[in-house]
This record gives sequence, C-alpha cells and structure tokens, in this order.
Amino acid sequence: MTVPTALRPDLAPSPRANAASVDDCRLIELPRITDPRGNLTFIEGGAHLPFSIERVYYLYDVPGGAERGGHAHRALQQLLVAVAGSFEVLLDDGRRRRRVRLDRPYRGLLIGPMIWRELDEFSSGSVCLVLASQCYDEADYYRDHAAFVAEVL
Ligand code: TYD
Repeated sequence: MTVPTALRPDLAPSPRANAASVDDCRLIELPRITDPRGNLTFIEGGAHLPFSIERVYYLYDVPGGAERGGHAHRALQQLLVAVAGSFEVLLDDGRRRRRVRLDRPYRGLLIGPMIWRELDEFSSGSVCLVLASQCYDEADYYRDHAAFVAEVL
C-alpha cells in the first residue's frame, strides 16, 4: 500500500533548525500603577524586555481600514503596545499564521526576528507604540512575502 506523502513526516518539508515560530511571539503584562488621578505603566529595558531599547516609534492618525506592517525583520526585536485604542497583528512564520488583538496599554506583544507581521483593524484614535532593539535599517527588512517564505522554509 502506498502511504500518501501528506502522512509521511519523513517526506514533509522540514523547517530550518531554530526557525522562528509564531508561538514564540508572546504577550507581556506590563506593570500598572493604578491611581484615581489616572493610571501609569512603565517599561524598562532589560527588566521587562529581552533586549535593550535602541529606538521608539509610534503609529498614530491611522485612517479606518488602513494596514501597516507587511514585512519581517532579519534581526530586529520589537515590543508593540496599543497605548491608545486597539488594533490587530497578523503573525506569520512562513508555515503558520496567528492573529493577536492588542487593546490594553499595559500589555505588549513581543515579536522576534524572522516573523512576518501585518497590522490592521485600527480603532479610531489608536496609537501603536513600538520599542525596538535596533535603530532603523532598511537592510534588516524583508518586504516581499514570497522572498521571506523562501528564506524560512
Ligand atoms: P515601515 O517600517 O514600513 O512602517 P510600518 O511597518 O509601521 O507600516 O516604515 C514606513 C516608512 O518610514 C519607511 O519609509 C521607513 C520609514 N521609517 C523610518 O525612517 N524610521 C523608522 O524607525 C521606521 C519604523 C520607519
């Protein structure tokens, strides 16, 4: 009897050793100092992040229906926080996809290298804060999804 290829793990394409996985992208609960005058959250490099912060940027005034991201990074690590409003992040490691909704200013999504990400479903007035492990470098980007998948599989 011939075993279908799909049931033969020895014939399935094997991911590279140490390949990044969407499961490695994790949500981090940040400290909250609640106060009747307004709440406060802080993030310290080293203490709350597995990297030191080299760059901070933020997305704001995002029009309804707009999409951001649409790329992966070779080495960059990032923490994304919805410091106002909400948005969704599609994570893609070339084999599996996962969607994460960010809607709390005290919760961050950690994304490591070699993960494709797309951001959408921005609520009105939302702000996406990004803490990054390196300064901006266009050479660190994969902007073509097919080229990214070819690299990770
Ligand atoms: P990009 O990273 O594609 O934005 P997003 O992933 O949020 O949709 O960057 C958009 C443009 O802004 C691109 O021309 C590069 C520039 N840019 C910088 O100059 N410095 C930065 O730190 C970032 C994140 C982007």
